[in-house]
Amino acid sequence: MFENLQALPEDPILGLMAAFRADTATTKIDLGVGVYKDEHGKTPVLRAVRAAEQAVLADQQTKTYVGPAGNEQFNALIAELVLGSKHPALTSGRVRAVQAPGGCGALRLGAELLTVGGARPTVHVSDPTWANHVPLLSGAGLKLERYPYFEHRTGTVKFDAMLERLSSLPAGDVVLLHGCCHNPTGADLSIAQWRKIADVLLQRRLVPYVDIAYQGLGEGIDEDAEGARLIAATVPEALIAVSCSKNFGLYRERVGALMVLTESSTQTTATASHLRKIARGIWSMPPDHGAAIVARILSDAKLNQDWRYEVDAMRNRMLSLRSALSAALAKTCSAEMASVIEKQRGMFSTIPVTPEAADTLRQQHHIYMTRDGRINIAGVSMAAIDYIAKAIGSVA
Ligand code: LMR
Repeated sequence: MFENLQALPEDPILGLMAAFRADTATTKIDLGVGVYKDEHGKTPVLRAVRAAEQAVLADQQTKTYVGPAGNEQFNALIAELVLGSKHPALTSGRVRAVQAPGGCGALRLGAELLTVGGARPTVHVSDPTWANHVPLLSGAGLKLERYPYFEHRTGTVKFDAMLERLSSLPAGDVVLLHGCCHNPTGADLSIAQWRKIADVLLQRRLVPYVDIAYQGLGEGIDEDAEGARLIAATVPEALIAVSCSKNFGLYRERVGALMVLTESSTQTTATASHLRKIARGIWSMPPDHGAAIVARILSDAKLNQDWRYEVDAMRNRMLSLRSALSAALAKTCSAEMASVIEKQRGMFSTIPVTPEAADTLRQQHHIYMTRDGRINIAGVSMAAIDYIAKAIGSVA
């Protein structure tokens, strides 16, 4: 059965994480996998998470099954976090959120749902997009195509080209949009651009699939969800995949949700039954622990406030790192390279370096980044900024 299988190349992001762990150099710097880090390179458990976790464990009476849709309190609260509690799509009962194992589980659940009606629509993803979007969506049997998105030279969104492509797509096709903190580029749409996109989606009868994995880490918890909120207020049908890995720091607990917006609340009920069936056939039920922590934080005023404070602190640290790195790169590289980093938002920036230059940075300077030039801003420490800027300057 397996004798003809050849070993595959490593995953472009997780392979880098393993290579970094194996590197014994004391000067090594991890700008690879997207996890938040403090000045000492550690990814701490958030204070609110620790407190909620203790409360969850103290109160827990049973380990019996939860169900294929997961924790319903979590589902309701996460939908409110993303859309805002007074959003018309929520108050009219047209949204159903279903817990999933991480943002990846949510993306796959949504991809499987798109195939249920037998239509198998094409999904259009940004060029570039997060590497794992491809296997997650195409693994469900969906065809993927790319729309123009990122101008490498200026580090900004090619908005006119993007809009033109979306305006030419056939009705029923699906458009994957990054809710905020675009991965891998850090180049986000302005709210005026989201408005134009929402109008095109409505006119062309396209189905938006918003992936929101960094809410709070770009401009603010509510600000980062504005695009998704606008879309959900404009179109009749949409999917939103949510991840709690980064903004709750719950990476290994695998906490996420898929939200589906339908035209009427009757369709919402029918769609939810399909989501439960799909989940049952893949993972049966999502893991409980992380979602119980999130539900506890979001339902407790004090924990909620502390969590928001911690999210603000993570975001502000990344903004300070952006400014400092940009200033250091202005001395060692082009003005363009410096301004790109300052302008972009969230955990990532894509800098204009070749794959070979990224290899040299890893091999000679022990600086790890993906070969497409994506850097994790949170992996930069204030103490290492000059070292990083000099190294990038030597290869750029
Ligand atoms: C990343 O993009 O680095 C993160 O989302 C981690 C992952 O699973 O790829």
